Amino acid sequence: MSERTSRHGAAPSREALAQLTPVLTKRWLSPTAWRLDTYEQLDGYTGLRKALTGRVNGSSGTPVHPDDLIQLIKDSGLRGRGGAGFPTGMKWGFIPQHDGKPHYLVVNADEGEPGTCKDLPLMMADPHSLIEGMIIASYAIRSHHAFIYVRGEAVHAARRLRNAVAEAYRAGFLGKDILGSGFDLDLVVHSGAGAYICGEETALLDSLEGYRGQPRLRPPFPATHGLYSSPTVVNNVETIASVPYIVLGGADWWKSMGTEKSPGPKIYSISGRVNHPGQYECALGITLRQLIELAGGMQDGHELKFWTPGGSSTPLLTAEHLDVPMDFEGMMGAGTMLGTTAVMVFSDQDCPVYATYRWIEFYAHESCGKCTPCREGNYWMVQVLRRILSGAGTHEDLDTLLDTSDNLLGRSFCALGDGAASPVLSSIKFFKQDYLDYIERRRPPLLKPAAELVGAH
Ligand SMILES: Cc1cc2nc3c(=O)[nH]c(=O)nc-3n(C[C@H](O)[C@H](O)[C@H](O)COP(=O)(O)O)c2cc1C
Ligand code: SF4
Repeated sequence: MSERTSRHGAAPSREALAQLTPVLTKRWLSPTAWRLDTYEQLDGYTGLRKALTGRVNGSSGTPVHPDDLIQLIKDSGLRGRGGAGFPTGMKWGFIPQHDGKPHYLVVNADEGEPGTCKDLPLMMADPHSLIEGMIIASYAIRSHHAFIYVRGEAVHAARRLRNAVAEAYRAGFLGKDILGSGFDLDLVVHSGAGAYICGEETALLDSLEGYRGQPRLRPPFPATHGLYSSPTVVNNVETIASVPYIVLGGADWWKSMGTEKSPGPKIYSISGRVNHPGQYECALGITLRQLIELAGGMQDGHELKFWTPGGSSTPLLTAEHLDVPMDFEGMMGAGTMLGTTAVMVFSDQDCPVYATYRWIEFYAHESCGKCTPCREGNYWMVQVLRRILSGAGTHEDLDTLLDTSDNLLGRSFCALGDGAASPVLSSIKFFKQDYLDYIERRRPPLLKPAAELVGAH
Protein backbone atom coordinates (compact mmCIF):
# COMPACT_ATOMS: atom_id res chain seq x y z
CA MET A 1 0.00 0.00 0.00
CA SER A 2 1.26 3.43 -0.75
CA GLU A 3 1.68 6.05 1.92
CA ARG A 4 -1.67 7.34 0.70
CA THR A 5 -3.44 5.15 3.24
CA SER A 6 -1.18 3.63 5.83
CA ARG A 7 2.09 2.04 6.76
CA HIS A 8 2.33 -1.70 6.08
CA GLY A 9 1.03 -3.78 8.97
CA ALA A 10 2.02 -1.10 11.43
CA ALA A 11 0.22 -0.68 14.71
CA PRO A 12 -2.38 2.06 14.36
CA SER A 13 -1.07 5.52 15.12
CA ARG A 14 -2.24 7.44 18.15
CA GLU A 15 -4.34 9.67 15.88
CA ALA A 16 -5.98 6.61 14.34
CA LEU A 17 -6.74 5.07 17.74
CA ALA A 18 -8.30 8.35 18.82
CA GLN A 19 -10.99 7.68 16.21
CA LEU A 20 -12.30 4.73 18.19
CA THR A 21 -15.53 5.53 20.02
CA PRO A 22 -16.37 2.50 22.13
CA VAL A 23 -19.99 2.85 23.22
CA LEU A 24 -21.79 -0.30 22.09
CA THR A 25 -18.51 -2.21 22.07
CA LYS A 26 -17.24 -0.94 25.42
CA ARG A 27 -17.81 -4.26 27.22
CA TRP A 28 -16.70 -6.56 24.44
CA LEU A 29 -13.24 -7.21 25.80
CA SER A 30 -14.33 -7.76 29.40
CA PRO A 31 -14.10 -11.39 30.47
CA THR A 32 -17.56 -13.02 30.46
CA ALA A 33 -19.11 -9.81 29.16
CA TRP A 34 -22.14 -11.85 28.08
CA ARG A 35 -23.10 -12.81 31.62
CA LEU A 36 -25.68 -10.89 33.56
CA ASP A 37 -23.45 -10.28 36.60
CA THR A 38 -20.70 -8.78 34.44
CA TYR A 39 -23.22 -6.72 32.50
CA GLU A 40 -24.72 -5.29 35.67
CA GLN A 41 -21.28 -4.44 37.07
CA LEU A 42 -20.65 -2.39 33.93
CA ASP A 43 -23.77 -0.16 34.01
CA GLY A 44 -26.05 -2.86 32.63
CA TYR A 45 -29.80 -2.41 33.10
CA THR A 46 -29.36 1.09 34.53
CA GLY A 47 -30.99 2.59 31.44
CA LEU A 48 -33.94 0.26 31.96
CA ARG A 49 -34.23 1.23 35.64
CA LYS A 50 -34.19 4.87 34.64
CA ALA A 51 -36.90 4.36 32.01
CA LEU A 52 -39.23 2.14 34.02
CA THR A 53 -38.76 3.50 37.54
CA GLY A 54 -36.99 6.84 37.17
CA ARG A 55 -34.37 5.58 39.61
CA VAL A 56 -30.64 5.68 38.83
CA ASN A 57 -28.08 4.45 41.39
CA GLY A 58 -30.67 4.15 44.16
CA SER A 59 -32.08 7.66 43.72
CA SER A 60 -35.84 8.16 43.75
CA GLY A 61 -37.73 9.27 40.69
CA THR A 62 -40.72 8.79 38.46
CA PRO A 63 -40.93 6.50 35.44
CA VAL A 64 -40.33 8.04 32.05
CA HIS A 65 -43.57 8.22 30.05
CA PRO A 66 -43.47 6.01 26.93
CA ASP A 67 -44.19 9.02 24.69
CA ASP A 68 -41.23 10.84 26.23
CA LEU A 69 -39.01 7.87 25.42
CA ILE A 70 -40.11 8.00 21.79
CA GLN A 71 -39.39 11.74 21.80
CA LEU A 72 -35.94 11.12 23.31
CA ILE A 73 -35.08 8.70 20.51
CA LYS A 74 -36.37 11.22 17.97
CA ASP A 75 -34.28 13.97 19.56
CA SER A 76 -31.17 11.78 19.52
CA GLY A 77 -31.39 11.48 15.74
CA LEU A 78 -30.76 7.72 15.95
CA ARG A 79 -31.09 6.21 12.48
CA GLY A 80 -31.61 2.53 11.75
CA ARG A 81 -28.43 0.49 11.56
CA GLY A 82 -29.91 -2.25 9.34
CA GLY A 83 -29.03 -0.50 6.10
CA ALA A 84 -31.59 2.12 5.15
CA GLY A 85 -30.92 4.61 7.96
CA PHE A 86 -34.59 5.32 8.68
CA PRO A 87 -35.08 7.55 11.78
CA THR A 88 -35.84 5.18 14.66
CA GLY A 89 -37.91 7.53 16.81
CA MET A 90 -40.13 8.33 13.83
CA LYS A 91 -40.64 4.61 13.18
CA TRP A 92 -41.69 4.05 16.79
CA GLY A 93 -44.00 7.06 16.55
CA PHE A 94 -45.91 5.44 13.67
CA ILE A 95 -47.29 2.74 15.99
CA PRO A 96 -50.94 3.63 16.56
CA GLN A 97 -51.89 3.95 20.22
CA HIS A 98 -55.11 2.94 21.98
CA ASP A 99 -56.02 0.79 18.98
CA GLY A 100 -56.86 -2.24 21.09
CA LYS A 101 -54.50 -4.45 19.09
CA PRO A 102 -51.38 -6.18 20.38
CA HIS A 103 -48.14 -4.41 19.42
CA TYR A 104 -44.94 -6.24 18.59
CA LEU A 105 -41.25 -5.47 18.58
CA VAL A 106 -39.20 -7.65 16.23
CA VAL A 107 -35.43 -7.42 16.22
CA ASN A 108 -33.85 -8.22 12.89
CA ALA A 109 -30.81 -10.35 13.71
CA ASP A 110 -30.63 -12.05 10.34
CA GLU A 111 -27.35 -10.33 9.35
CA GLY A 112 -27.08 -11.78 5.85
CA GLU A 113 -25.64 -8.89 3.84
CA PRO A 114 -22.30 -10.09 2.42
CA GLY A 115 -19.40 -8.63 4.40
CA THR A 116 -21.50 -7.66 7.38
CA CYS A 117 -20.26 -8.85 10.73
CA LYS A 118 -21.39 -6.61 13.55
CA ASP A 119 -24.71 -7.89 14.92
CA LEU A 120 -23.48 -11.42 15.56
CA PRO A 121 -20.37 -10.24 17.46
CA LEU A 122 -22.57 -7.84 19.43
CA MET A 123 -24.99 -10.60 20.41
CA MET A 124 -22.13 -12.94 21.30
CA ALA A 125 -20.21 -10.40 23.38
CA ASP A 126 -23.00 -8.36 24.91
CA PRO A 127 -26.43 -9.97 24.50
CA HIS A 128 -27.91 -8.15 27.49
CA SER A 129 -27.46 -4.76 25.84
CA LEU A 130 -29.82 -5.94 23.10
CA ILE A 131 -32.27 -7.37 25.63
CA GLU A 132 -32.18 -4.16 27.70
CA GLY A 133 -32.78 -2.10 24.56
CA MET A 134 -35.68 -4.35 23.61
CA ILE A 135 -37.38 -3.95 26.99
CA ILE A 136 -37.10 -0.15 26.80
CA ALA A 137 -38.28 -0.08 23.16
CA SER A 138 -41.20 -2.39 23.93
CA TYR A 139 -42.23 -0.19 26.85
CA ALA A 140 -42.10 2.86 24.58
CA ILE A 141 -44.27 1.36 21.84
CA ARG A 142 -46.55 -0.45 24.36
CA SER A 143 -45.59 -3.94 23.27
CA HIS A 144 -45.79 -6.96 25.54
CA HIS A 145 -44.31 -9.48 23.10
CA ALA A 146 -40.92 -9.11 21.50
CA PHE A 147 -38.99 -11.39 19.18
CA ILE A 148 -35.39 -11.73 18.08
CA TYR A 149 -35.21 -13.29 14.63
CA VAL A 150 -31.70 -14.73 14.52
CA ARG A 151 -30.03 -15.91 11.36
CA GLY A 152 -30.69 -19.66 11.12
CA GLU A 153 -27.05 -20.63 10.68
CA ALA A 154 -25.95 -18.71 13.79
CA VAL A 155 -26.73 -21.46 16.26
CA HIS A 156 -24.04 -20.15 18.62
CA ALA A 157 -25.69 -16.72 18.79
CA ALA A 158 -29.17 -18.16 19.33
CA ARG A 159 -27.80 -20.28 22.17
CA ARG A 160 -26.10 -17.31 23.79
CA LEU A 161 -29.22 -15.17 23.45
CA ARG A 162 -31.45 -17.87 24.93
CA ASN A 163 -29.15 -18.18 27.95
CA ALA A 164 -29.14 -14.41 28.41
CA VAL A 165 -32.94 -14.24 28.08
CA ALA A 166 -33.26 -16.96 30.75
CA GLU A 167 -30.94 -14.97 33.04
CA ALA A 168 -33.02 -11.84 32.46
CA TYR A 169 -36.25 -13.69 33.31
CA ARG A 170 -34.71 -15.05 36.51
CA ALA A 171 -33.56 -11.57 37.55
CA GLY A 172 -36.99 -10.02 36.94
CA PHE A 173 -36.00 -7.97 33.88
CA LEU A 174 -38.42 -9.97 31.73
CA GLY A 175 -41.82 -11.46 32.49
CA LYS A 176 -44.50 -9.93 34.72
CA ASP A 177 -44.27 -6.58 36.53
CA ILE A 178 -40.71 -5.80 35.47
CA LEU A 179 -38.83 -3.98 38.28
CA GLY A 180 -42.19 -3.46 40.00
CA SER A 181 -43.29 -1.10 37.22
CA GLY A 182 -46.40 -3.01 36.25
CA PHE A 183 -44.97 -3.48 32.76
CA ASP A 184 -44.98 -7.05 31.37
CA LEU A 185 -42.86 -8.34 28.50
CA ASP A 186 -42.21 -11.77 27.03
CA LEU A 187 -39.24 -12.22 24.75
CA VAL A 188 -38.79 -15.05 22.26
CA VAL A 189 -35.59 -15.97 20.42
CA HIS A 190 -36.53 -17.39 17.04
CA SER A 191 -34.06 -19.11 14.71
CA GLY A 192 -34.50 -17.93 11.14
CA ALA A 193 -34.99 -19.83 7.93
CA GLY A 194 -31.42 -19.55 6.60
CA ALA A 195 -32.20 -17.30 3.63
CA TYR A 196 -30.88 -13.82 2.90
CA ILE A 197 -34.35 -12.62 1.89
CA CYS A 198 -35.60 -13.37 5.41
CA GLY A 199 -33.65 -10.27 6.51
CA GLU A 200 -36.01 -8.10 4.45
CA GLU A 201 -38.43 -6.99 7.12
CA THR A 202 -41.71 -8.16 5.58
CA ALA A 203 -40.25 -11.49 4.45
CA LEU A 204 -38.95 -11.82 8.00
CA LEU A 205 -42.45 -11.30 9.38
CA ASP A 206 -43.88 -13.96 7.05
CA SER A 207 -41.11 -16.33 8.08
CA LEU A 208 -41.71 -15.59 11.76
CA GLU A 209 -45.39 -16.40 11.24
CA GLY A 210 -44.38 -19.77 9.85
CA TYR A 211 -44.81 -19.04 6.14
CA ARG A 212 -42.24 -19.12 3.38
CA GLY A 213 -40.17 -15.93 3.67
CA GLN A 214 -41.15 -13.66 0.79
CA PRO A 215 -41.57 -9.88 0.83
CA ARG A 216 -45.08 -8.51 1.30
CA LEU A 217 -46.75 -5.86 -0.79
CA ARG A 218 -46.58 -2.43 0.86
CA PRO A 219 -48.71 -0.55 1.87
CA PRO A 220 -49.89 -1.52 4.39
CA PHE A 221 -46.65 -1.11 6.29
CA PRO A 222 -45.58 -3.12 9.36
CA ALA A 223 -46.30 -0.10 11.60
CA THR A 224 -50.01 -0.85 11.18
CA HIS A 225 -50.09 -4.37 9.68
CA GLY A 226 -46.96 -6.21 10.74
CA LEU A 227 -46.68 -9.44 12.68
CA TYR A 228 -50.08 -11.19 12.74
CA SER A 229 -51.43 -8.09 10.99
CA SER A 230 -50.83 -5.99 14.10
CA PRO A 231 -48.71 -2.84 14.64
CA THR A 232 -45.06 -3.89 14.61
CA VAL A 233 -41.67 -2.22 14.86
CA VAL A 234 -38.85 -4.04 13.08
CA ASN A 235 -35.41 -2.79 14.07
CA ASN A 236 -31.86 -3.96 13.58
CA VAL A 237 -29.81 -5.37 16.49
CA GLU A 238 -27.39 -2.44 16.59
CA THR A 239 -30.26 0.07 16.48
CA ILE A 240 -31.97 -1.43 19.52
CA ALA A 241 -28.71 -2.01 21.41
CA SER A 242 -28.07 1.75 21.10
CA VAL A 243 -31.21 2.60 23.05
CA PRO A 244 -30.02 2.04 26.67
CA TYR A 245 -27.02 4.30 26.05
CA ILE A 246 -29.24 7.09 24.75
CA VAL A 247 -31.58 6.73 27.73
CA LEU A 248 -28.63 7.03 30.11
CA GLY A 249 -26.51 9.56 28.25
CA GLY A 250 -29.23 11.71 26.71
CA ALA A 251 -29.88 12.94 23.19
CA ASP A 252 -27.27 15.71 23.28
CA TRP A 253 -24.52 13.32 24.32
CA TRP A 254 -25.47 10.96 21.48
CA LYS A 255 -25.46 13.85 19.02
CA SER A 256 -22.03 14.94 20.23
CA MET A 257 -20.71 12.00 18.19
CA GLY A 258 -20.95 11.67 14.44
CA THR A 259 -22.24 14.26 12.02
CA GLU A 260 -25.25 16.57 12.11
CA LYS A 261 -27.57 14.34 10.11
CA SER A 262 -25.93 11.04 11.01
CA PRO A 263 -25.30 11.25 14.75
CA GLY A 264 -23.85 8.64 17.06
CA PRO A 265 -21.28 5.89 16.98
CA LYS A 266 -21.39 3.05 14.44
CA ILE A 267 -19.82 -0.39 14.33
CA TYR A 268 -17.91 -0.67 11.06
CA SER A 269 -16.94 -4.22 10.09
CA ILE A 270 -13.89 -4.18 7.86
CA SER A 271 -12.65 -7.20 5.95
CA GLY A 272 -10.49 -8.07 2.96
CA ARG A 273 -6.96 -6.90 2.23
CA VAL A 274 -6.24 -5.22 5.55
CA ASN A 275 -3.94 -6.50 8.25
CA HIS A 276 -6.45 -6.59 11.08
CA PRO A 277 -9.99 -7.17 9.85
CA GLY A 278 -12.66 -6.85 12.50
CA GLN A 279 -15.16 -4.52 14.11
CA TYR A 280 -14.20 -0.92 14.79
CA GLU A 281 -16.69 1.37 16.50
CA CYS A 282 -16.21 4.97 15.43
CA ALA A 283 -18.32 8.09 15.20
CA LEU A 284 -20.30 8.20 11.96
CA GLY A 285 -18.34 10.16 9.38
CA ILE A 286 -14.98 8.44 9.71
CA THR A 287 -13.20 7.99 6.38
CA LEU A 288 -11.94 4.82 4.76
CA ARG A 289 -8.39 6.11 5.10
CA GLN A 290 -8.81 6.30 8.88
CA LEU A 291 -10.53 2.92 9.04
CA ILE A 292 -7.77 1.21 7.09
CA GLU A 293 -5.22 2.73 9.41
CA LEU A 294 -7.18 1.43 12.41
CA ALA A 295 -7.23 -2.00 10.76
CA GLY A 296 -3.44 -2.05 10.61
CA GLY A 297 -3.10 -0.80 7.05
CA MET A 298 -3.30 -2.66 3.77
CA GLN A 299 -1.62 -6.06 3.57
CA ASP A 300 1.93 -6.01 2.25
CA GLY A 301 2.12 -5.62 -1.49
CA HIS A 302 -1.52 -4.65 -1.90
CA GLU A 303 -2.76 -1.36 -3.26
CA LEU A 304 -6.38 -0.37 -2.66
CA LYS A 305 -8.42 -0.78 -5.83
CA PHE A 306 -12.10 -0.96 -4.86
CA TRP A 307 -14.27 -1.29 -1.78
CA THR A 308 -17.84 -1.55 -0.58
CA PRO A 309 -18.97 0.90 2.08
CA GLY A 310 -21.87 -1.22 3.36
CA GLY A 311 -22.00 -4.68 1.88
CA SER A 312 -22.34 -5.94 -1.68
CA SER A 313 -25.69 -4.17 -2.15
CA THR A 314 -23.99 -0.77 -1.94
CA PRO A 315 -22.29 0.51 -5.12
CA LEU A 316 -18.51 0.09 -5.16
CA LEU A 317 -16.13 2.96 -4.54
CA THR A 318 -12.46 3.35 -5.44
CA ALA A 319 -9.22 4.77 -4.04
CA GLU A 320 -10.51 8.19 -5.10
CA HIS A 321 -13.02 7.97 -2.27
CA LEU A 322 -10.59 7.40 0.60
CA ASP A 323 -11.47 10.69 2.29
CA VAL A 324 -15.23 10.77 1.89
CA PRO A 325 -17.02 10.80 5.27
CA MET A 326 -18.69 7.45 5.85
CA ASP A 327 -22.05 8.69 7.04
CA PHE A 328 -25.43 8.47 5.31
CA GLU A 329 -25.03 11.79 3.48
CA GLY A 330 -21.36 11.41 2.57
CA MET A 331 -21.91 8.02 0.97
CA MET A 332 -24.99 9.22 -0.88
CA GLY A 333 -23.01 12.17 -2.21
CA ALA A 334 -20.42 9.73 -3.55
CA GLY A 335 -23.14 7.83 -5.43
CA THR A 336 -23.41 4.92 -3.03
CA MET A 337 -25.00 4.11 0.34
CA LEU A 338 -23.77 3.60 3.88
CA GLY A 339 -25.70 0.30 4.07
CA THR A 340 -24.57 -1.89 6.94
CA THR A 341 -21.08 -0.30 7.14
CA ALA A 342 -19.64 -3.61 5.97
CA VAL A 343 -16.43 -2.35 4.45
CA MET A 344 -14.90 -4.94 2.13
CA VAL A 345 -11.46 -3.89 0.91
CA PHE A 346 -10.07 -5.18 -2.40
CA SER A 347 -6.65 -4.58 -3.88
CA ASP A 348 -4.94 -4.34 -7.26
CA GLN A 349 -4.58 -8.12 -7.03
CA ASP A 350 -8.35 -8.61 -6.95
CA CYS A 351 -10.54 -8.60 -10.01
CA PRO A 352 -13.70 -6.45 -9.86
CA VAL A 353 -15.31 -8.53 -12.62
CA TYR A 354 -14.81 -11.74 -10.66
CA ALA A 355 -15.99 -10.15 -7.41
CA THR A 356 -19.12 -8.97 -9.21
CA TYR A 357 -19.67 -12.44 -10.65
CA ARG A 358 -19.48 -14.02 -7.18
CA TRP A 359 -21.89 -11.45 -5.75
CA ILE A 360 -24.39 -11.99 -8.55
CA GLU A 361 -24.16 -15.73 -8.01
CA PHE A 362 -25.16 -14.97 -4.43
CA TYR A 363 -28.12 -12.82 -5.47
CA ALA A 364 -29.25 -15.39 -8.04
CA HIS A 365 -29.12 -18.07 -5.35
CA GLU A 366 -30.92 -15.92 -2.78
CA SER A 367 -33.58 -14.43 -5.09
CA CYS A 368 -36.92 -15.57 -3.68
CA GLY A 369 -38.35 -15.83 -7.19
CA LYS A 370 -41.41 -13.67 -6.55
CA CYS A 371 -40.73 -11.09 -9.28
CA THR A 372 -39.41 -11.55 -12.80
CA PRO A 373 -36.67 -8.87 -13.02
CA CYS A 374 -34.79 -10.35 -10.06
CA ARG A 375 -35.55 -14.03 -10.64
CA GLU A 376 -34.61 -13.98 -14.33
CA GLY A 377 -32.20 -11.03 -14.32
CA ASN A 378 -29.80 -12.42 -11.77
CA TYR A 379 -29.79 -15.85 -13.38
CA TRP A 380 -29.08 -14.20 -16.72
CA MET A 381 -26.33 -11.96 -15.38
CA VAL A 382 -24.51 -14.94 -13.88
CA GLN A 383 -24.40 -16.55 -17.32
CA VAL A 384 -23.14 -13.38 -18.99
CA LEU A 385 -20.49 -12.69 -16.35
CA ARG A 386 -19.32 -16.29 -16.54
CA ARG A 387 -19.03 -15.99 -20.32
CA ILE A 388 -16.92 -12.82 -20.00
CA LEU A 389 -14.67 -14.38 -17.35
CA SER A 390 -14.19 -17.50 -19.46
CA GLY A 391 -12.88 -15.44 -22.36
CA ALA A 392 -15.91 -15.86 -24.62
CA GLY A 393 -17.56 -12.53 -23.85
CA THR A 394 -18.54 -9.92 -26.40
CA HIS A 395 -19.05 -6.16 -26.31
CA GLU A 396 -22.80 -6.83 -26.48
CA ASP A 397 -22.49 -8.68 -23.18
CA LEU A 398 -21.62 -5.42 -21.48
CA ASP A 399 -24.77 -3.85 -22.88
CA THR A 400 -26.78 -6.86 -21.71
CA LEU A 401 -25.41 -6.45 -18.19
CA LEU A 402 -26.26 -2.74 -18.17
CA ASP A 403 -29.70 -3.36 -19.61
CA THR A 404 -30.50 -6.17 -17.17
CA SER A 405 -29.33 -4.12 -14.19
CA ASP A 406 -31.41 -1.22 -15.40
CA ASN A 407 -34.43 -3.52 -15.37
CA LEU A 408 -33.65 -4.59 -11.82
CA LEU A 409 -33.03 -1.15 -10.35
CA GLY A 410 -36.30 0.38 -9.17
CA ARG A 411 -38.35 -2.29 -10.94
CA SER A 412 -37.90 -5.19 -8.52
CA PHE A 413 -40.47 -6.03 -5.88
CA CYS A 414 -38.00 -5.53 -3.04
CA ALA A 415 -34.57 -4.05 -2.40
CA LEU A 416 -32.74 -7.33 -3.03
CA GLY A 417 -33.14 -6.65 -6.74
CA ASP A 418 -31.81 -3.08 -6.41
CA GLY A 419 -28.91 -4.41 -4.40
CA ALA A 420 -27.98 -6.89 -7.13
CA ALA A 421 -27.77 -4.09 -9.69
CA SER A 422 -25.29 -2.17 -7.51
CA PRO A 423 -22.09 -4.20 -8.05
CA VAL A 424 -22.77 -4.61 -11.76
CA LEU A 425 -23.46 -0.95 -12.50
CA SER A 426 -20.70 0.41 -10.29
CA SER A 427 -18.04 -2.05 -11.44
CA ILE A 428 -18.77 -1.23 -15.08
CA LYS A 429 -18.74 2.48 -14.23
CA PHE A 430 -15.32 2.39 -12.58
CA PHE A 431 -13.68 -0.69 -14.09
CA LYS A 432 -14.97 -1.03 -17.63
CA GLN A 433 -11.40 -1.58 -18.75
CA ASP A 434 -11.22 -4.77 -16.65
CA TYR A 435 -14.27 -6.10 -18.49
CA LEU A 436 -12.80 -5.08 -21.84
CA ASP A 437 -9.51 -6.82 -21.00
CA TYR A 438 -11.39 -10.14 -20.86
CA ILE A 439 -13.58 -9.37 -23.85
CA GLU A 440 -10.67 -8.21 -26.04
CA ARG A 441 -8.48 -11.13 -24.90
CA ARG A 442 -5.78 -9.06 -23.19
CA ARG A 443 -6.30 -11.03 -20.03
CA PRO A 444 -6.33 -14.83 -19.65
CA PRO A 445 -9.71 -16.36 -18.78
CA LEU A 446 -10.36 -16.76 -15.08
CA LEU A 447 -13.09 -19.37 -15.44
CA LYS A 448 -13.65 -22.40 -17.62
CA PRO A 449 -16.42 -22.04 -20.21
CA ALA A 450 -19.80 -23.10 -18.86
CA ALA A 451 -19.94 -26.11 -21.22
CA GLU A 452 -16.66 -27.45 -19.84
CA LEU A 453 -17.90 -26.97 -16.31
CA VAL A 454 -21.02 -28.99 -17.08
CA GLY A 455 -18.92 -31.64 -18.78
CA ALA A 456 -16.68 -31.88 -15.74
CA HIS A 457 -19.50 -33.14 -13.52
C1 LIG B 1 -32.66 -8.53 1.00
C2 LIG B 1 -32.62 -7.74 2.28
C3 LIG B 1 -31.97 -8.27 3.38
C4 LIG B 1 -31.94 -7.56 4.57
N1 LIG B 1 -31.29 -8.09 5.64
C5 LIG B 1 -31.27 -7.42 6.81
C6 LIG B 1 -30.61 -7.98 7.94
O1 LIG B 1 -30.06 -9.07 7.88
N2 LIG B 1 -30.64 -7.26 9.09
C7 LIG B 1 -31.27 -6.05 9.19
O2 LIG B 1 -31.30 -5.46 10.25
N3 LIG B 1 -31.87 -5.48 8.14
C8 LIG B 1 -31.90 -6.16 6.95
N4 LIG B 1 -32.57 -5.60 5.89
C9 LIG B 1 -33.27 -4.32 6.09
C10 LIG B 1 -34.65 -4.55 6.73
O3 LIG B 1 -35.60 -4.76 5.70
C11 LIG B 1 -35.12 -3.37 7.57
O4 LIG B 1 -34.98 -2.20 6.83
C12 LIG B 1 -34.34 -3.21 8.88
O5 LIG B 1 -34.37 -4.38 9.65
C13 LIG B 1 -34.94 -2.08 9.69
O6 LIG B 1 -34.21 -1.86 10.87
P1 LIG B 1 -33.53 -0.46 11.21
O7 LIG B 1 -34.57 0.60 10.95
O8 LIG B 1 -33.17 -0.57 12.64
O9 LIG B 1 -32.36 -0.32 10.30
C14 LIG B 1 -32.59 -6.29 4.67
C15 LIG B 1 -33.23 -5.76 3.54
C16 LIG B 1 -33.24 -6.48 2.36
C17 LIG B 1 -33.94 -5.88 1.18
S1 SF4 C 1 -36.55 -8.58 -5.86
FE1 SF4 C 1 -38.34 -9.93 -6.27
S2 SF4 C 1 -37.56 -12.03 -6.63
FE2 SF4 C 1 -35.90 -10.75 -5.77
S3 SF4 C 1 -35.97 -11.25 -3.62
FE3 SF4 C 1 -37.20 -9.37 -3.88
S4 SF4 C 1 -39.29 -10.10 -4.26
FE4 SF4 C 1 -37.94 -11.87 -4.44
